[in-house]
Amino acid sequence: MSTPLRLASREDLRAWCTHIRQSGGTVGFVPTMGALHAGHRSLARASRERGLTTLASIFVNPMQFGPNEDFDRYPRSLDTDADALEREGVAAIFAPSVEEMVSAGDRTTVSVRELTQHFCGPFRPGHFDGVSTVVARLFSLVGPCVAFFGRKDYQQVAVIRRMTTDLAMPIEVVACPTLRDEDGLAMSSRNRYLNPAARHQALSLARGLHAASEAYHAGERRADSLVFLARQEVVSCMDSVDYVALGDADSLAPLAGTVLRAPAVLAIAASLGGTRLIDNIVFGIDPSPIGKHP
Ligand code: PAJ
Repeated sequence: MSTPLRLASREDLRAWCTHIRQSGGTVGFVPTMGALHAGHRSLARASRERGLTTLASIFVNPMQFGPNEDFDRYPRSLDTDADALEREGVAAIFAPSVEEMVSAGDRTTVSVRELTQHFCGPFRPGHFDGVSTVVARLFSLVGPCVAFFGRKDYQQVAVIRRMTTDLAMPIEVVACPTLRDEDGLAMSSRNRYLNPAARHQALSLARGLHAASEAYHAGERRADSLVFLARQEVVSCMDSVDYVALGDADSLAPLAGTVLRAPAVLAIAASLGGTRLIDNIVFGIDPSPIGKHP
C-alpha cells in the first residue's frame, strides 16, 4: 500500500478528482470527520471492493455542531487516521482547514425539508442543514463519484440521498451497514468519551433495539409495543433520552400508533454524561445488534 496523497486545498481536490476520471477511474468518496474506527474503515473497504479509486475527507465541520455541542472537544487524530486509511488502500485524503471550507462570506445553505423534521431534527436545530451544506460543497468539488455513508447515521444518509436526487447531483449514494463492537455497541467516534461503566450503560441502546427486534421476529407489529420494549431498556441506563421512535424507512414519517406494514426504522438517541449516542435498526433488513446467544 502506498501512502495516501494529502490534499488540503479546494483546487487540489478538484484537480485530483478530474485527473482520476480522465485516467479512466471512478472516485469512491468517503466523507468523515476523522477519529476513525472500523465503521469508517468499512466504508473505505466497500469502495475498494468496487474497484474505485478511494478518496476520504477528514473535516470536523463546524456548521453541523450546535453552540452547546462538542465541536471543540471532538477528537482530532489526522496522522493516526491517515495510517488507518493507508491500510484500507485509500489513494487520497482531503483534510482542509476550517477556513478552506467555510467562509464568513458564505450565503448559501442547503436545507432538505421534511426528512430533517423527524428523529434528531428537533433536538439538533440546524444540524442537518450543516451536514447537507458541507456535503453539497464537497460533492461539488469532488464531482461525479460513488459516495459511501453509514446507516449508523440513518437519517443523515436519507437526507443526503434526497439532496443528490433533488439537486440532480451526479453522485451515487451507497448506504453501508452499521459496524458494531462484539457486544453490540455501534461504533462511534464519540464512544471514546465513555469510561468503562458508561460504555456498559451505553449498551442499553443495542439492548433496546435487540428487544424490539426479537419481538418483531416473534410477530409483533404494533409500533407502540416495539417502541415500548426498546425504551424500557434505554430509560433506566441513560441520563436522558431524546427519542425512541419508529419511522417509515423511506420518508422517516412517524409510525406511532400504527401497525407496521412497510419497512420501518427504529431509531434511538440518548445521552450519558454529556455524550449523545444514536443507533437504529431497520426491521426485516438489519440483524439484531446482539446475537441471539451473546
Ligand atoms: P462521521 O461521524 O465521521 O462519520 C463518517 C461516516 O462514517 C458516516 O457516513 C457515518 O454514518 C459512518 N459511520 C459512523 N459510524 C459507523 C458505524 N458504526 N458503522 C458504519 N458506518 C459508520 O457523519 C459524519 O462524519 C459527518 O456528518 C459528515 C457526513 C462527514 C459530514 O460532515
